[in-house]
Amino acid sequence: QLQLRDSFGSKFGVIAAAAGSAVGLGNIWKFPYIAGIYGGAAFLFVYLAFIVAIGLPVMLSELIIGRGSRRNAFGAFKVLAPGTPWRYIGILGVSAAFLILSFYGVVAGWSVQYIVLSLENGFSNKTPDEISSLFATLIGSPIKPVLLQLFFMLLTGAIVIIGIKKGIEKYTKILMPVLVVILIFLCIKAVSLEGAKAGLLFLFKPDFSKLTGDGILSALGHAFFTLSLGMGTLITYGSYIKNDNNLVNTVINVTVADTVIAILAGVAIFPAVFAFGIEPSEGPGLIFVTLPNVFHQMPGGYIFSILFFVLLSVAALTSAISILEVVVAYFKEEFNMGRKASTVLATILISILGILCSLSMGVLSPYTFLGLNIFDLMDWISANLLLPIGGLFIALFVGWFLGRKKVKEEVAKGGSLSGIFLSAFLFLVKFIAPIAIAIVMLNKVGLLRF
Ligand code: PHE
Ligand code: NA
Repeated sequence: QLQLRDSFGSKFGVIAAAAGSAVGLGNIWKFPYIAGIYGGAAFLFVYLAFIVAIGLPVMLSELIIGRGSRRNAFGAFKVLAPGTPWRYIGILGVSAAFLILSFYGVVAGWSVQYIVLSLENGFSNKTPDEISSLFATLIGSPIKPVLLQLFFMLLTGAIVIIGIKKGIEKYTKILMPVLVVILIFLCIKAVSLEGAKAGLLFLFKPDFSKLTGDGILSALGHAFFTLSLGMGTLITYGSYIKNDNNLVNTVINVTVADTVIAILAGVAIFPAVFAFGIEPSEGPGLIFVTLPNVFHQMPGGYIFSILFFVLLSVAALTSAISILEVVVAYFKEEFNMGRKASTVLATILISILGILCSLSMGVLSPYTFLGLNIFDLMDWISANLLLPIGGLFIALFVGWFLGRKKVKEEVAKGGSLSGIFLSAFLFLVKFIAPIAIAIVMLNKVGLLRF
C-alpha cells in the first residue's frame, strides 16, 4: 500500500513543469485562431477577465487538492472526501484528458510536419494562396499526419514512462525561455510589416457588440484549456510538489507566463494576417498559413522557421506529457498498475482516438456530429463542456468542502496567504467562479439570456 511517490526535485523545476504544461498549442495555435473567429479584442478582454477571476483561483485550488492528498485526479477526492461522490470529478477529468490529447497530438503532428517543410525550404516562392492550400492538402491526406501524430504520441509516452524528475522536469526547464525569445523576434518582424496596424487594432481595440454567447463560452473554455485547468492536470502535478514549495507563487508565475505568451502569439500573428489578406476567422490553420508568409519575408527566415516549429513541437510535447500523466497516474494508483504498463495502455488508447481525429480532416470528414467533425467535436466537448464543469466543481470543493482552515494550512506549508487574500480567494472559489461558469453555460444553452 505504502509506495514511495515520485516528486519534483527543485522549486524551479515545479514552475517549469507547470508552465510547460500551460504553455503549448493553446497559446500559439488555438488562442489566435479562436480570437480570430470571435472578433479579436473583445474576445481577448473577456478571456483575460476569466483568467484573473476564475483561472487563478481554480489553479490554486487544484494545487491544494493535489498536494493535500498526494494522489491522482480521482484518488485525490477519495483521500480528501472519503465516501462522497466528489470523486466523480476525477472521472470527468480523466475523460477530458483522453479527448484533449487525441486532437492535441494531431496538431502537434502538423507542427512536426512543418519542421520538415521548413528544412526543405518548402514555403519559399509561394504565394499566400499556395501556402494555404499546402496546409489543406497536408492535413487532409490519410497517412502522413497519422504517422506524425503517432510519432508524437510515442515521444510523449517515452518521456512519461521515465517519470517525473528525470523525464518531465529535466526537459521543460531549458526549452521554454528559448521559445519566448523566438516569439519576440517574430513579433518585431510582424509589427513592422506594411498594414500591421489593422492587425493590432483587431487584437487590442474591442468592439463588444461583436461578442456572442458562443464567444463568451469559448473565452471561458479557452481560459481553462490554456491554463491546463479543470481536468486534474494540476491536481496531478500538485501531488508531486514538495511541502516547502510556495503554491501561490507557482500559480502567479505560471499564469503570467501563459498569458504573456498568448498575447505575444497574437501580436506575431494578426499583423501578418491583415498584411497578407488572410481571413482572421480562417480557423485551425491560421498559424500554419500565416507564419510561413512572415518567415519567407524576413532575413534569416529559413532558420527562424525551423526553430519556431521545433519549439512549437516542444511546447506541445511538454503539455501533452502533462495530459498523459493525468491518465497514467490514475491507472497506476487506482488499478495498481506499474508506471510502464499504465503509460503503454494510456498511450495506445489515446492514439487510437487520435487517428480518428486526424482522419476526420480528410477521409472521415463527412462524418459529423452536431455539425462538427470528430476533431472539432473532441475539442468542443472538452474545452467548452468538461473543463468548465470540472473547474466549477473543483472550486466548489475547495470553497465549501475543504474550507478556510484546510486551505490556510496547505498554503502555509511553503508560503503564506495573508488574511485578506485568503478571504478574497475563498470568495472567488465559493461564489464568483461557480456562478460565472454556471451563467456562461446556461446562457449558451439558452436557459438564461443576458
Ligand atoms: N494548456 C495547454 C495549452 O495551452 C493544453 C492543456 C490542456 C494541457 C489541458 C493540459 C491540460 O496548450
Ligand atoms: Na496555454
